[in-house]
Amino acid sequence: MKSSELRQSFLSFFESKQHQIVESSSLVPGNDPTLLFTNAGMVQFKDVFLGADQRPYSRATTSQRCVRAGGKHNDLENVGYTARHHTFFEMLGNFSFGDYFKEDAIAYAWEFLTGVLKLPKEKLLVTVYAEDDEAYSIWKDKIGVPVEKIIRIGDNKGARYASDNFWAMGDTGPCGPCTEVFYDHGEHIWGGPPGSPEEDGDRFIEIWNVVFMQFNRSADGTMAPLPKPSVDTGMGLERISAILQGVHSNYEIDLFQNLIKAAAQAVGTEDLSSQSLRVIADHIRSCSFMIVDGVVPSNEGRGYVLRRIIRRALRHGNKLGQTQPFFYKLVAALDAEMGEAYPELRKLADRVASILLKEEEQFAKTLDQGMRILEEAIANLGDSKVIPGETIFKLYDTYGFPADLTNDVAREAGLEIDEAGFEVAMAEQRARARSASNFSMDMSGTVSVDGKTEFTGYAYLEGQSPVEQILVDGVSVASLQAGEKGLVILAETPFYGESGGQVGDQGWFRGPAAVKVTNTTKQGKVHLHHVEVREGTLNVGDVVTTEVDKSLRNATALNHSATHLLHEALRRVLGDHVLQKGSLVNAERLRFDFSHFEGMTPAELEQVEDMVNEQIRLNHETITEVMDIEAAKAKGAHALFGEKYEAQVRVLTMGADYSIELCGGTHVKRTGDIGLFKIVQESGIAAGVRRIEALTGKAAIDATRQTEVSLSKIAGLFKASKEAALDKVLALNEQARAMQKELEQLKSKLAAQAGADLASGAIDIPGGKLLVSKIDIEDPKGLRDLLDQLKSKLESAVILLAAEHDGKVSLIAGATKDFTAKVKAGDLIKFAAPFVDGRGGGRPDMAQAGGTNPAGIDAMLAAVPDWVQEQL
Ligand code: ALA
Repeated sequence: MKSSELRQSFLSFFESKQHQIVESSSLVPGNDPTLLFTNAGMVQFKDVFLGADQRPYSRATTSQRCVRAGGKHNDLENVGYTARHHTFFEMLGNFSFGDYFKEDAIAYAWEFLTGVLKLPKEKLLVTVYAEDDEAYSIWKDKIGVPVEKIIRIGDNKGARYASDNFWAMGDTGPCGPCTEVFYDHGEHIWGGPPGSPEEDGDRFIEIWNVVFMQFNRSADGTMAPLPKPSVDTGMGLERISAILQGVHSNYEIDLFQNLIKAAAQAVGTEDLSSQSLRVIADHIRSCSFMIVDGVVPSNEGRGYVLRRIIRRALRHGNKLGQTQPFFYKLVAALDAEMGEAYPELRKLADRVASILLKEEEQFAKTLDQGMRILEEAIANLGDSKVIPGETIFKLYDTYGFPADLTNDVAREAGLEIDEAGFEVAMAEQRARARSASNFSMDMSGTVSVDGKTEFTGYAYLEGQSPVEQILVDGVSVASLQAGEKGLVILAETPFYGESGGQVGDQGWFRGPAAVKVTNTTKQGKVHLHHVEVREGTLNVGDVVTTEVDKSLRNATALNHSATHLLHEALRRVLGDHVLQKGSLVNAERLRFDFSHFEGMTPAELEQVEDMVNEQIRLNHETITEVMDIEAAKAKGAHALFGEKYEAQVRVLTMGADYSIELCGGTHVKRTGDIGLFKIVQESGIAAGVRRIEALTGKAAIDATRQTEVSLSKIAGLFKASKEAALDKVLALNEQARAMQKELEQLKSKLAAQAGADLASGAIDIPGGKLLVSKIDIEDPKGLRDLLDQLKSKLESAVILLAAEHDGKVSLIAGATKDFTAKVKAGDLIKFAAPFVDGRGGGRPDMAQAGGTNPAGIDAMLAAVPDWVQEQL
């Protein structure tokens, strides 16, 4: 099976199990500015697992492009030297967001592997988290995997939950126990089963990881249960393709073979087994897709990772003797392999190639110079087998020659590098470049933030603060120039950071530079301002004047306060079972998800809308108080689901006892500020979860007016008043229905006419008529109707009809009662069907069959009359 077919087969399989096929998300994670690259299928769904985002589906499946180059999952150094490491790979995954759990997840995986892909069961074995008795018994009892092939793996990495069978996105975030399926590549390959001392060998290869997402791990290590247990799975497309294509190395699969051939041609070599070609084939994938997703080669963050990978590919081309640009030429070959599945690649292929070419031209000089210096240094090593850290650092710092290239060259020359010495030199440089930092990049490429931004935005929309920190792609920098984007941390800010469903503030920083704030998010207690410098330079240490965009903030406040009133109205109208399941509040509209088991009736919606508008007209003052959590609960405050609260909480009250909620958001001063509340839609988004979308203030008035305009236009079309338009539409509808009926009657008249024409083709046989004919009709029911019609028309007859559609054949045979003693329809069909490679049968008076060989129809039609004559 080709890898492209496999990708499709996986998605179709899960689509048949009611999963929504979702596009691969970008390699640059959209919902997590601190994560370097998307490194698993679940990244785009992180907030859905956490309950902070809702989707209209509760099951999804994806083929996700992933990069593991940099951070915890850094496979860069191994690429080309092992059978299965890649910087870029595709992860096939299925996801349940509080829908199915362990039993179905395991059953689906097994069905796909053994039922669809037909992998031999005896080649598979599985691992479960040691404490997960449930998963163990599902494998053993429900699936029937022999106990010697179910291996329990506990906390084998030195800490609680640190286990090969406990998967975590990073140090924080969604996590849970997992079960993995392994494939045995056979005794001829060295290695032992998971958990054995030889597990690092290549014999037993993990192919599918099924994670039971159950917890959200926070920075202090606490494990909070997720709103709903969920499922996240991942299977490497390249690995499973290798198995299905009967090869051991991922580089031998179809997709890579074509890329390797293209690379050989571009580099000008014939030896297809060269490891350098593998490296190049791998790297063109990660580099191209990174560029597709908006990364450009640079000296910082993601751009730097891209630059390193490009340079590594170029060095390998150079090693094979290619001194001219070649790498960019491979974009076309990649497009041929993957452009269909990833249209974004096809669209941008030219741009990708030109960026690569530019980088190739630029690097040619560096590479030449760097290689010369390095070769000189190697020649001067004498007896030592270690390249000094200082040399590696100088190559990197002064000549832009990446350390991993030095490492590569060393590896090939049988030398080692003084990594520790290099790290020391790097650390010194970083210390010089950085101001006092409250950021650190952890192993997974996630920036962790300590500290707290003082939020002044409840009372003020303006202020002043020093710039404490600037980040670009997860890396600290000292300044941002005009045109550059980054994340900025201030000591204090009036900008609200996205949380509790309310979007982050936008606005400006002014001072030495003009800086547009396009969004504000929060990481822990730190507000991250997403900025674009418009003029001048923004430096760490600058004092800026902060200005929140007032009109956006105010419009958002109307929606947020209305959400509280809506929540309470729903509880009063529908009942206490209504719980908030999520919300989104921005300047345009509000969206509120809540538990309720059926669609709301128009009357209920009206009642809710009326109740909210009544509270608006009562013009209550909004009162905020900070109190301890127990006092808040005693006061009757509703806590938001899934939200963690501190000992001291903010309690928001509107109307003496109308709405009391724990909330950190920003609100109106009086409910009357909301003006008008208008529901625009109510819908179901998951089992037992409804969603209301509504408008407030000017937006609500605009929407109402828009409806009026539409109604006026409809009325205009009918030249009627607005009041009379409805009656006109109803009348038109009635008319359309009558026409439809008439049309159906005409159709059946036409069919009867066709039947009569057909009947006239019958020939005489002793005792009645014989009709053998090929006809143009598709559905089996139509065939039966036609047969009945012909029988009554011909009165005494034997009939065989054949229809062809989509390369298949449908046959129907019939005999009137007076014939069935001699010619049975069932026998006739048994005689006829083999001509079209079909089988069938039926009653003496009616029989049907299907066939797969339309070419046999004519011979069949010719043979039937003789056969019938013989029976008489
Ligand atoms: N998220 C899981 C993994 O990456 C499936 O292995």
